[in-house]
Amino acid sequence: MSYENIIAEKKGNVGLITLNRPKALNALCDALIKDIGAALDDFESDEDIRAIVITGSERAFAAGADIKEMADYDYMDVYKNDFITKGWTRVASCRKPTIAAVAGFALGGGCEMAMMCDIMIAADTAKFGQPEITIGTIPGAGGTQRLTRAVGKAKAMEMCLTGRMMDAEEAERAGLVARIVPADSLLDEAMQLAEKIASFSGPVSMKVKESVNKAYEMTLTEGLMFERREFHSTFALEDRAEGMKAFGEKRKPAFKHR
Ligand code: HXC
Repeated sequence: MSYENIIAEKKGNVGLITLNRPKALNALCDALIKDIGAALDDFESDEDIRAIVITGSERAFAAGADIKEMADYDYMDVYKNDFITKGWTRVASCRKPTIAAVAGFALGGGCEMAMMCDIMIAADTAKFGQPEITIGTIPGAGGTQRLTRAVGKAKAMEMCLTGRMMDAEEAERAGLVARIVPADSLLDEAMQLAEKIASFSGPVSMKVKESVNKAYEMTLTEGLMFERREFHSTFALEDRAEGMKAFGEKRKPAFKHR
């Protein structure tokens, strides 16, 4: 399918979304958010896709929500239309594993969208920030919540209260990104990671994702119980039987994704 503000491609078992509004540093306008939602719907309903990469350009993953579009909204516009929850949370609700491959600016809603993904890989050029305070508002798609959980209160407070950007090294040290790679190999590295994930059983990686995410939602006791139930449920999968049988037979498992 073709879109106005993104490029969506199926590459083997990986769905790749490239944000594509270069003149606005991939500012996340409503139309772009709708495009992402449609591409994710397409990838999620495609049995062959088992991991998804979201990336931007060399200069910007995304420089935030589209400020020019938001500038004329009033309270009733955003409240009645539930601005943010509609569409924006589609990345977070994706059931298949998602990887954000970030080069350049990931600011405001751009940083928030990257944080909605399951794994973030940063180019050495990446810069993360929540500069909403500089334009008279606050993060509205998880910046005060996911950033705090990822990097802790001290850095999250400082970034949200001052708009200071974090470079890739600081982001890795703080636990926001899984690893840093040279900018010119960012997409290759992200695709290799996605292909690796896609080589395993699709339902099992969905269970991993759901279980890890519960660590943010539940008490330890509840989370451990959830994990154990999901672990038990893998014994209903053909892929679990195949994986363990293949180990005993010293061969690679042939997963059927069921
Ligand atoms: C609309 C944007 C934009 C944005 C950049 N542009 N960011 N347009 N919304 N968020 C546009 C600029 O207006 C300019 O268009 C073009 O992209 C290039 O940007 P420059 O500013 O000329 O580039 P540069 O000098 O390199 O500065 C880069 C920058 C700066 C530091 C990233 O653009 C910037 O501060 N952008 C805004 C960052 C921000 O505040 N983000 C948070 C938004 S609020 P023209 O037409 O002039 O060439 C938010 C809330 C989320 O995200 C809440 C949940 C949805």
